Amino acid sequence: MDLVVVSNRVARAKANEPMTGGLAAALLPVVEKSGAIWVGSSGRVRDNVSRDSFAEIESLGAGALALLDLPAAHYGGYYEGFANSALWPALHSRADLIQVAPGDYQSYREVNAFMARALMRFCKPDTMLWIQDYHFLALGAELRKLGIRHPIGFFLHTPWPVRRIMSGVPHHRDLVEAMLCYDLIGFQTEDDCENFAAYLRAELGLAVADGEVVSRFGTSRIATFPIGIDVDGFAAQAQRAASHPEVSRLRKSLHGERLAIGVDRVDYSKGLVNRISAFDRLFEIEPALKRAVSLLQIATPSRGGIEAYSNLQDALSRQVTEVNGRHGEVDWTPIRYLSKGFSQTVLAGFYRAAQVGVVTPLHDGMNLVAKEYVAAQNPVDPGVLVLSKFAGAANELDAALLVNPHDIDGMARAIAMALAMPATERRMRWEAMMARLRAGTIHQWFSGFTAALEATRAAGRPPALVRPLRSLSGAAC
Ligand code: G6P
Repeated sequence: MDLVVVSNRVARAKANEPMTGGLAAALLPVVEKSGAIWVGSSGRVRDNVSRDSFAEIESLGAGALALLDLPAAHYGGYYEGFANSALWPALHSRADLIQVAPGDYQSYREVNAFMARALMRFCKPDTMLWIQDYHFLALGAELRKLGIRHPIGFFLHTPWPVRRIMSGVPHHRDLVEAMLCYDLIGFQTEDDCENFAAYLRAELGLAVADGEVVSRFGTSRIATFPIGIDVDGFAAQAQRAASHPEVSRLRKSLHGERLAIGVDRVDYSKGLVNRISAFDRLFEIEPALKRAVSLLQIATPSRGGIEAYSNLQDALSRQVTEVNGRHGEVDWTPIRYLSKGFSQTVLAGFYRAAQVGVVTPLHDGMNLVAKEYVAAQNPVDPGVLVLSKFAGAANELDAALLVNPHDIDGMARAIAMALAMPATERRMRWEAMMARLRAGTIHQWFSGFTAALEATRAAGRPPALVRPLRSLSGAAC
């Protein structure tokens, strides 16, 4: 079986480069090992693009990485426009932030169609295609238009919101119906899967039964595939990273002080403002913790061309300055705020050096930082994970200290509790979390999805069927 994996952002196989976002970093080791062709955006645009506008094709493990220049005329409307100003806020239940300019949806569809044409060169008779994330909801439909009958799977890395929010996205019906050209549609959690099924029933009048929906395009399977990490690989990386110069510098700077760590893209879904407020509150309710603990917040700038993101960057800088001004002293900074990215290796070392991992998104598909923080810990003296109950990871990591990211006082108390937790309880919670991580690694995720996609091959997909849409009775997916 040949596999082609498609995502907007891809990762290079260089351990020392900063990574942007969980998707690319998570996919790299498994795609590399599988021998798949990984196709994505080169990050550059061109005026005159043809289907052969592959900027680079280089080897990646046993397979290849193929980077495509995207059409300049449509890139803004696609990436900053429809994908990140309409879909991303909606998928994270921020309907108030949805902004669509005229032409954005058309640009989004044009880029999906362009990617479909570019993929044709990789479609051999037994190829399967696996499309990643919200940038390419309509890519399957565009491939079908070109006559591709191969198995095509889709996995959404973000949450899928309740129907009312999704219906706030312009052209939502057109788009979600296009998704039904996929043979297999994967989500992170049961909630996402159920929200999607509820949408299909209410907005498209389709029935979902036993994880299947039949539309005029044929049958699509809908299922959950919670993404994991390479647990043992990451643990070994963290152990090795202890001697990395950057990690040694961090340890030396602590002078016996304890460390909490947060690592996020600057994104309104990550709950960064509330997290900084929780530390502000912590130093008010537990003044004895001043000088005894500080937060290292790595906040990688993201999507800076979009107003909601640049506003957030400014707001966070102001907030951190205020909190440091209020609680800091000449020789102590409560919040070390770094606006840049770090390599996986250095991050692994930082996680191991921190007694508390703070992962408090308002809404998150999975959040792999939570999983990486756990895997990076020293088994004898593990740190404590403070985790938002609204991260997909909370379904598995229920031995973390689960918090409501809207409850500032509750978060402050949870951080204080983490700092006071005895070693026996820390070890007990950590072992429970490691067992869950080992039960669902990135390797199992990859093989589970590709096996399920392969299984759809047997069923085949007929040319566009036109049949009554309300013919089945509904059940949970
Ligand atoms: C999230 C998305 C990914 C995306 C990443 C970074 O993890 O699910 O698809 O690649 O954020 O965002 P960016 O816009 O920088 O690619």
